[in-house]
Amino acid sequence: MKTRAAVAFAAGKPLEIIEVDLEGPRAGEVLVELKATGVCHTDAFTLSGDDPEGAFPAILGHEGAGVVVEVGPGVKSLKPGDTVIPLYTPECRECEYCLHPKTNLCQSIRSTQGQGLMPDGTSRFSLDGKPILHYMGCSTFSNYTVLPEIALAKIRSDAPLDKVCYIGCGVTTGVGAVIFDAKVEPGSRVVVFGLGGIGLNVIQAARLVGARQIIGVDINPAKVELARKFGMTDFINPKEVDNVVEAIVDLTHGGADYTFECIGNVNTMRQALEACHKGWGESIIIGVAGAGQEISTRPFQLVTGRVWRGSAFGGARGRTDVPTIVDWYMEGRLNIDDLITHTMPLEKINDAFDLMHEGKSIRSVVLY
Ligand code: APR
Ligand code: ZN
Repeated sequence: MKTRAAVAFAAGKPLEIIEVDLEGPRAGEVLVELKATGVCHTDAFTLSGDDPEGAFPAILGHEGAGVVVEVGPGVKSLKPGDTVIPLYTPECRECEYCLHPKTNLCQSIRSTQGQGLMPDGTSRFSLDGKPILHYMGCSTFSNYTVLPEIALAKIRSDAPLDKVCYIGCGVTTGVGAVIFDAKVEPGSRVVVFGLGGIGLNVIQAARLVGARQIIGVDINPAKVELARKFGMTDFINPKEVDNVVEAIVDLTHGGADYTFECIGNVNTMRQALEACHKGWGESIIIGVAGAGQEISTRPFQLVTGRVWRGSAFGGARGRTDVPTIVDWYMEGRLNIDDLITHTMPLEKINDAFDLMHEGKSIRSVVLY
């Protein structure tokens, strides 16, 4: 079949909206019609050419929501008409990782996914007979796409897809880091570095679990209003204090129970660790630092009980946990609507990248 898609032909070039060929689903695969997709920093990172795994031409996008059109042989858990969210972190429920209780990093299709291919080592997308690569196993910048069954979360059919697409990446990354990875307890003092799309989701999850204090740290004071609406209780602008770590230790009466780095800057990662309370404070890295960058601190910080850890896709097991997060949104426990600041048709998708680079959007969503 033919499908409309925004194709990345080369690093640093705008996406081109064209018609490409899409082959139907093979064994264990599912054809999905996307209804909406968010545009995320990771798409921009790959498009910039800085992503060591990035290759072109490719159809980017990994934050979508849609409806199943057709299933390939052997697909049991999905049928045409089902509402789904694509998962860049799949959940096969069989591999060594899925069977281990401490990780969500299913590895069953990791190598082919990293190469931009389906699990059988080929691509379903092509143009004039030449293959176009998939991306993060999702390629949601195409109106229709093919995914492995294990990379689709089936969600309730009454969820608005123009909103819940954001659960495919940003919402789950922030909310899950608090609830599934850090397991923040009620009464905790929490610090969030970076009040963008990820940080605001960390804030609303910290409020949801009953944190007593939620301190936001950002160099842009324009972020304060929305952050307060989401649950931030205190704000620190690093440009207005001598020492961010000392300011946090003061405000928290000794250090934070949990800090979350939602910027992707190795200097703020160090601050986030050192702002943790001696003996028990935990710092969770969510932001993605540039390729090749390294973090540092004095080992004494860890010897004296602070914990440094990271979180990918919020520790969520996609097929199991994403439908639950959709429920939380539908029940009014999570606010997604205020985070989607811009929408546009596929033809205008390059505007979404401009808005992101200019810091004007929290999230842009493309509507098919
Ligand atoms: N100190 C404090 N705040 C900072 C700093 C800094 N040195 N540098 C940037 N910020 C703030 C920005 O002002 C902005 O509000 O961090 C926020 C980042 O927000 P977004 O650009 O919206 O990014 P977001 O989508 O939240 O993603 C954050 O997570 O997924 C990764 O790759 C992504 O690394 C990025 C991070
Ligand atoms: Zn697995």
